[in-house]
Amino acid sequence: MRIHEHFSLLNYNTFKIDVLCNQFVEIENDSEMDILFEKNFFDDNYLIIGGGSNILFTRPFEGTVVKMMTKGIELVDASDDCVVLDVSAGVEWADFVDYCIGNQYYGVENLIGIPGLVGSAPVQNIGAYGAEVKDVIDSVRGIRISTRTPFAFARSECDFGYRQSVFKTILKNDAIITHVRFKLSRIPKFNLSYQGLQRELEKSNVPLTLSSVADAVIAVRNSKLPDIRKYGCAGSFFKNPIVPHAVLTELSAKFPKIVSYPVDDSHVKLAAGQLIDLAGLKGWREGNVGVWPLQALVIVNYEGATGREICNFYAAVQQKVYSLTGIWLEPEVNVI
Ligand code: EPU
Repeated sequence: MRIHEHFSLLNYNTFKIDVLCNQFVEIENDSEMDILFEKNFFDDNYLIIGGGSNILFTRPFEGTVVKMMTKGIELVDASDDCVVLDVSAGVEWADFVDYCIGNQYYGVENLIGIPGLVGSAPVQNIGAYGAEVKDVIDSVRGIRISTRTPFAFARSECDFGYRQSVFKTILKNDAIITHVRFKLSRIPKFNLSYQGLQRELEKSNVPLTLSSVADAVIAVRNSKLPDIRKYGCAGSFFKNPIVPHAVLTELSAKFPKIVSYPVDDSHVKLAAGQLIDLAGLKGWREGNVGVWPLQALVIVNYEGATGREICNFYAAVQQKVYSLTGIWLEPEVNVI
C-alpha cells in the first residue's frame, strides 16, 4: 500500500485535468483494505477510482482518492463449453481482453480498446459495438463501506441496465469492488450486430476469428474516437437519451434521418452524438476544449483545459441541443 499526500491527479484521469487530492492511496493487495478502515480513511470525503477514464474533476478533491492496483486472473472453472475467470479489480481492462483473446475465450472481443480497469467495468456496465459487459459477468465481489462487510452479487443482483448498475444507484460510494468473475465461451460465438463492425469485416475480407473481430473493432474505434494518449477525453461524454415513442415521432418530423434503437414497448434510445451533430456542434471548439470532429459524443481537452472550462463547454452543448430538440443530455461521465 502506498500513500501520497497532496498528490496531483493529472496522470490518473484520462481528461488530463491537473488537480490535487489530499491523499492518494494505492491498494496493491486485498488485505490492505482493512488498513483503510483502521485509519478511518472513509470517515471523510473519499473517492474510489479505476483508470480515471470516466471522471471529470472540476476542482481539487478535498479528501482521499483510493486506486485499486490489485492484479491477478484466476481460472476457477472450465468445461468444454466455457470458462469462469476470477479477475482482480486492478487489472487493466485492456490486459484482460488480450488475455481472453490469447486463450481463445469468446465474449469480450467487442469491448477491446475501452480504457479503464476491470473493477470499473461493472459500475457503468461498459458497452460498445453491440456488446455490454453484463453479458459476460457471472458475479461481482467487494466490500461495503458503510457496514465493512464483504458482498458477492450474482449478475442478476447487479441491476444492470444501459450504462447503469446497482453500484451507481443504491451502492453509490458504498462499494469497493475487489473481484469480478466472468463466464466466457470456449465455443466460437461472435456478436456482429453492430453494422459498422460487419462492414469493417467485409471490407477486410478475412476469416472470422477472435483476432479479426478485435482488429475490426479497433479499426472502427480509431476511425471515430480520439487517441487518449494524445488528447484528454473520457470517451462518450453524454449518455444516449431514452425517450418515449412520442418524442421520436415529433423529432422525426423535423429530422427525418434521426436514428433510434428500441428499448421497450414505449421507449427508444436516441443517439446523443447525432443530436449534437444536428445542432451543428461537431468539431466546435472554444479555446482548449472541443467536440471531437469525428464523433460528436466525445468532448476533448486539446491542451491544458481546466475542469471548469470543460464544464462550461459541456453546459453550452446541453443548452444548444436542448434549444434545437427539447432534449436535455445527461453526462455519462462522473463530474466531480
Ligand atoms: N452519429 C452522428 N454524428 C455523430 C456521432 C454519431 O450522426 O457525430 C450517429 C451515427 O451515425 C450513428 C449513431 O449516431 O447512426 C450512433 O453512433 P455510434 O454508433 O458512433 O455510437 P454512439 O451511440 O454515439 C455508443 C457508445 C460508445 C460506443 C459506441 C459503439 C454511449 C454513450 N456511447 O456511442 O461508447 O463505443 O456506441 O457501440 O452509449 C463510451 O461509452 O465512452 C463509448 C465510446
